[in-house]
Amino acid sequence: MGLMGFLDRWADVDTFDGAMEPARKAVQSVPSAVKDVLHGTWLGHSLHPVLVQVPVGSWVSAGILDAIPAMRPAATLLIGTGVAAALPAAATGAADWSEQGTGVRRLGAVHAVLNTAALGLYVGSLAARAKGRGTLGRVLSYAGLGLAGGSAAIGGHMSYAQSSGPSHAATAARALTTDWIDLGPLDDFPEGRPALRTGKGHGADVPLAAVRRGARVDVFIGACSHLSGPLHEGTVEEVRGHACLVCPWHDSAFDLENGQPRRGPAANPQEKLEVRMEAGRVMARLPSHQR
Ligand code: FES
Repeated sequence: MGLMGFLDRWADVDTFDGAMEPARKAVQSVPSAVKDVLHGTWLGHSLHPVLVQVPVGSWVSAGILDAIPAMRPAATLLIGTGVAAALPAAATGAADWSEQGTGVRRLGAVHAVLNTAALGLYVGSLAARAKGRGTLGRVLSYAGLGLAGGSAAIGGHMSYAQSSGPSHAATAARALTTDWIDLGPLDDFPEGRPALRTGKGHGADVPLAAVRRGARVDVFIGACSHLSGPLHEGTVEEVRGHACLVCPWHDSAFDLENGQPRRGPAANPQEKLEVRMEAGRVMARLPSHQR
């Protein structure tokens, strides 16, 4: 069995679920405004993959410079930079982890344990270097690099194989054509709450969530960008001064005007369709830039 097969098996192991739950609850108890900063909701892009570049890049570079005796002071500086940057990177990862599915959380716990061990080795390396024990310092930092590398592979598996990071709405949108879709008479749309409509795509139906407010209708891909929650089962609420479509699964709120996330855990916007009225019927289509 390859490494990825092993990770998939691990994602099915429930032995440590009870031990993880207190940590998850502790993260979830953080005020939502703080969590939204960590998720990257304000940025419209997940913050964790942005911040992890600093410790990963610093530690890889330090590993190269440590192999050149004259460059070892620079390596020590980079290790310190990576240690300082690891904490905000971990905070963003913890916030995202707390709102993921079970399998992702199980691998995420391993990712966190390995990262913590790597961080401990790097702190030990800095302490050894400060005492003039350079050889020990390099052994510890190379060991840390090995653990951090393995942990990064797990993080990549969570993102790509388990789809913990991409926009699920963007994936669903790819099944739609950019043809106009007849969603039916305006009078059939309920006022002020989402309704399920169906978009015909490339041989597959694509659920859409449509919200009518008077003569206006806003239409979105029905699968929430966070983890595919059914937005047509959500609600319409005022969130931070914006009229939003709120997901029933984890409470992400998307601005009805433009699909931007106004409350996380979603960090990606929700794909929105163009709408026009034609003889009292609502017509919608996917803008070509979203394909
Ligand atoms: S699926 Fe998580 S907020 Fe929608």
